[in-house]
Amino acid sequence: MALSRTPPSPGGTGWFPVARAADVGGTPLLVGAGGRPWVVVRLRPGGEVTALSPRCPHRLLPLTSAEVVGGELRCAGHGWTFAADGRCRDVPALGPDAVPPPRADLSAPWAVEERDGWVWVANDRTLHHRPPRAVAGTTAEPVPAPAAPTGPVVANQEPALARAWHPVARADQLGEGGWLAVALLGTTWTLQRRGGVVTAEPAAGVRERDGALWVAPEPPVTTDLPAEAFPGRTQWLPAVRTATAAAVLLDAVLDPGVPGVVPTTTPVPGGCTARWEDGGRRVVVHLRAPFQLRRDEVLADGTTRSLLLLLQPEDADSTLVHARVALGGRPSRVQLAAEADRVQAELAALDRPLPGAGTGLPLTPRDEVHLPTDRLGVAYRHALADLLVTARVAAEATEEDHDHVAAA
Ligand code: FES
Repeated sequence: MALSRTPPSPGGTGWFPVARAADVGGTPLLVGAGGRPWVVVRLRPGGEVTALSPRCPHRLLPLTSAEVVGGELRCAGHGWTFAADGRCRDVPALGPDAVPPPRADLSAPWAVEERDGWVWVANDRTLHHRPPRAVAGTTAEPVPAPAAPTGPVVANQEPALARAWHPVARADQLGEGGWLAVALLGTTWTLQRRGGVVTAEPAAGVRERDGALWVAPEPPVTTDLPAEAFPGRTQWLPAVRTATAAAVLLDAVLDPGVPGVVPTTTPVPGGCTARWEDGGRRVVVHLRAPFQLRRDEVLADGTTRSLLLLLQPEDADSTLVHARVALGGRPSRVQLAAEADRVQAELAALDRPLPGAGTGLPLTPRDEVHLPTDRLGVAYRHALADLLVTARVAAEATEEDHDHVAAA
């Protein structure tokens, strides 16, 4: 017996009422048709209704947060733009002359029609070329829950993060004899400095590095950034708290943000090194999972500047951003303050609330469409996936050790 892809519609016509026509305008609306989700929208004021798959294929952002621009739908993430038939027309990161690949397209149902004040969707080809007439009891189809990512998602309280070093404060915030309460992975830790030694019971590790205090709740399996000196003068930015998950925010920072730039990435233990050039600017990014980044830049005029970015996953919906900037040469205080302001504005622009973006970063590459310009983001996903595996193996080894001790 042949199985149909969707449940039969009322009356078996293949058409499903998804929304009242008056409710569909220029803001994408999530609807359901026979168990399949779509967004419906009018790409021209008063124009016909378009139905498209509800998530951007790039990084799976819901297209309910997309906007209509020039008769097309533009994703709020990185500006991929889709025509009424779902074809991807523009990927800004590829540059103005690039042709988006077919895998960047959205799917669309077989047909969308308005009749009797209702919008009807036929997911698949049907013998009935027009939807049925609406009757008194016609109601919109239920909206299915969005499909969950098929693989792991790194949220702020991912258990494997307990086996990593995390920055929790600037070192100068904790004086001799003092204490400091910090949040990390949903737990409050009390740091104390006695006789120059910093402790945070019952953490497996506490240390001072790069001008910050770090805590590893359990024996860490992560690799640090290289301990290289910063050029010239450095300055910490005030720590900023955000509701964006640490992995999502760091992923946003990794985007070169320059059309046509394809980074060269080299995997290293615990992360990767990436390089690219644009407009005379040379950039080197050192990345270590889970949330350490250093970016060194040489500008066209020879100026060197660096950014150290360390993210602290405080709890499920809170990340503290520690950032330190450096300018080469002998910059004045004013120049350094201006650089700090520039970086602060850059980070703020990346930390956009994107409705429905989820609570963490999905790691399965086949769930998303990655283009060459996304290489650094892909390398980050691999580094996080490796961390999850390494942490799990370490946890299992610890459990076995405990079992052996208990059995002895
Ligand atoms: S363009 Fe849609 S998530 Fe990147």
